[in-house]
Amino acid sequence: MRALALFLLGLLLAAQQSTSPTPPEQPIPYSHKKHLAMGLACKNCHTSPDPGETMGIPATSVCMGCHAKIRTDSPAIQKLAKYHQDKAEVPWVRVYQIPTYVFFSHKAHLETGAKCETCHGPVATREALSKETDISMGGCMNCHRQNKASNDCTFCHEPK
Ligand code: HEC
Ligand code: HEC
Ligand code: HEC
Ligand code: HEC
Ligand code: HEC
Repeated sequence: MRALALFLLGLLLAAQQSTSPTPPEQPIPYSHKKHLAMGLACKNCHTSPDPGETMGIPATSVCMGCHAKIRTDSPAIQKLAKYHQDKAEVPWVRVYQIPTYVFFSHKAHLETGAKCETCHGPVATREALSKETDISMGGCMNCHRQNKASNDCTFCHEPK
């Protein structure tokens, strides 16, 4: 009984480490929920330039396409406009990030039929994003196991 309880506690702690219910505080309170409700699509802002490894975070110019005129009275939009004017990047706090020694390609995964939501949760319903799915090594390997994709070390890591 005690061993089982400790085992379950271990699982719980492991799960807590690889996901996080609390969104990080962002420099600008950008809401996916509000903007996707306007009919924007992911690809309007996340373009995945060749070779398709990254999805990228949009430049301020994408935002200013609308916000040069929309809600210019808002302090958050004034902050955005200041970054834009200074030609500075918004210091967004990254939510999903893996170390550079891991191979990962968005393009390759989207070609397997995976959806954004599979790995990032229901983004379009979120006011603020938190790391709600597990993209640690264990999380990657679970999905690879389920889909009969390789879990050889060298599939995701440089050979030693
Ligand atoms: C109007 C532009 C815009 C649209 C449309 C948009 N995003 Fe974003 N996205 C952003 C901005 C800005 C950030 C950085 C701030 C944040 O994390 O909320 C971001 C961050 C993210 C992140 C977190 C990246 C990281 O590791 O920090 C994910 C995942 C994401 N977006 C997925 C999506 C998906 C999926 C869609 C479509 C359902 C979408 N986005 C549509 C602008 C957009
Ligand atoms: C198979 C899982 C998976 C799928 C499917 C997926 N992502 Fe990601 N996404 C990740 C991982 C892993 C990272 C972290 C990549 C890194 O740090 O190099 C990431 C990072 C991001 C980022 C941060 C910027 C970057 O490129 O590192 C954005 C934005 C993002 N994803 C948006 C999307 C959108 C939009 C879609 C759907 C078109 C999508 N993702 C589909 C796993 C996935
Ligand atoms: C297609 C036009 C469009 C684009 C592109 C766009 N926005 Fe917006 N944004 C709006 C509209 C319209 C509102 C007002 C929504 C509301 O009040 O419900 C808004 C509201 C906001 C707000 C809330 C302002 C406040 O104080 O209430 C923030 C912050 C914001 N946008 C940031 C961004 C950022 C950052 C980007 C770029 C990643 C961006 N927007 C891209 C149209 C856009
Ligand atoms: C939604 C399920 C899923 C998740 C989550 C997932 N993968 Fe995959 N991955 C696949 C499938 C399916 C393939 C295709 C295997 C094939 O073609 O034999 C694949 C292929 C790959 C490839 C080879 C594709 C290429 O670039 O040529 C790498 C590397 C990889 N995954 C790394 C990762 C890493 C790292 C993570 C976690 C950050 C991850 N995967 C998460 C399902 C997933
Ligand atoms: C499906 C992709 C995938 C496969 C297969 C894989 N890894 Fe990983 N590995 C990752 C990811 C993603 C991380 C980064 C985890 C994180 O950010 O917490 C990682 C991290 C690591 C780390 C660093 C851990 C740390 O805490 O610093 C080591 C060591 C490692 N992997 C070894 C291995 C070995 C050995 C194998 C073969 C048995 C293997 N990996 C197979 C995806 C993979």
